[in-house]
Amino acid sequence: MQVIQSHGARIPIVGFGTMTLKEDACIDMVEVALHLGYRHLDTAQNYGNEREVGAGLRRSGIRREDVFLTTKVWFNRLAAGDFEKSVDESLARLELPWVDLLLIHWPNAQIPLAESIGALCKVKRAGLAKHIGVANFNVAMIEEANKLASEPLACLQIEVHPYLDQTKVIAAARKHGMAVVAYCPLARGKVPADEVLTRIGRAHGKTPAQVALRYLEQQDIIPIPRTSKRERLPENLGSLEFTMSAAEMAEIDKLKRPGARIVSPPQAPKWDD
Ligand SMILES: NC(=O)c1ccc[n+]([C@@H]2O[C@H](COP(=O)([O-])OP(=O)(O)OC[C@H]3O[C@@H](n4cnc5c(N)ncnc54)[C@H](OP(=O)(O)O)[C@@H]3O)[C@@H](O)[C@H]2O)c1
Repeated sequence: MQVIQSHGARIPIVGFGTMTLKEDACIDMVEVALHLGYRHLDTAQNYGNEREVGAGLRRSGIRREDVFLTTKVWFNRLAAGDFEKSVDESLARLELPWVDLLLIHWPNAQIPLAESIGALCKVKRAGLAKHIGVANFNVAMIEEANKLASEPLACLQIEVHPYLDQTKVIAAARKHGMAVVAYCPLARGKVPADEVLTRIGRAHGKTPAQVALRYLEQQDIIPIPRTSKRERLPENLGSLEFTMSAAEMAEIDKLKRPGARIVSPPQAPKWDD
């Protein structure tokens, strides 16, 4: 599978998002996804499924080093000391000695960024995360985080889909060589009903979901679509099997609209967007 390279990280261009997947259904879906060819899994302390994601990974029999696994530290665990404890707990649930990528899940206005970025870098130096990054940071925070970090920040994970204009924040991440991972790449189910995406997909024998994912992949943005349905796993992976023209990409660009953000922060952000 194509990978996006960033500060030594090699991140598979599409991943499997696991938020909301729980218990045996989560273990099954992770195992099936890996058998189908996914090599990138996205979980988080806050999803309450790290145990199941780790179990699915082991049950798949795929070699650990062949899978890129991300987890995240929730915004209420970012204080120095507690941060490291939180990572130890995540690794214990995953039953893994390290993760490929560890992210600050959301910034926390109550904790100085220097403190949480310091803890993030410390965890990398301790070998508990091969790579580190941030999620849900705006342009000002990306700049500040990169100034504060003593280890390279390899990734920014943010909401990206055809309806949301994230041009500025993506440019800020790229300026620092950070890979961009897109959550809600299917706009949480809004994409399949879209007329433009449906028409473009029809021309390629592809579904609107595949078009939305391909739109991101062709910009070197890494989508991590989630599904609870086995039959959609190959569909979403099938986004890799075609190429859209510049004219088609430009037509999808025009779907951006105000107010398209789906996910709200768990607390008020410190900086404006
Ligand atoms: N860093 C963060 O703050 C953050 C925030 C949100 C999400 N995330 C990560 O990003 C992942 C993806 O985001 P998301 O789960 O919010 O949204 P999403 O992937 O855009 O959308 C998921 C929804 O789309 C449906 N779906 C999936 N494949 C489909 C297909 N081929 N055709 C039609 N519908 C399809 C799913 O329904 P079915 O289950 O019925 O298939 C589900 O309801 C999460 O799982 C999580 O890992 C991170």
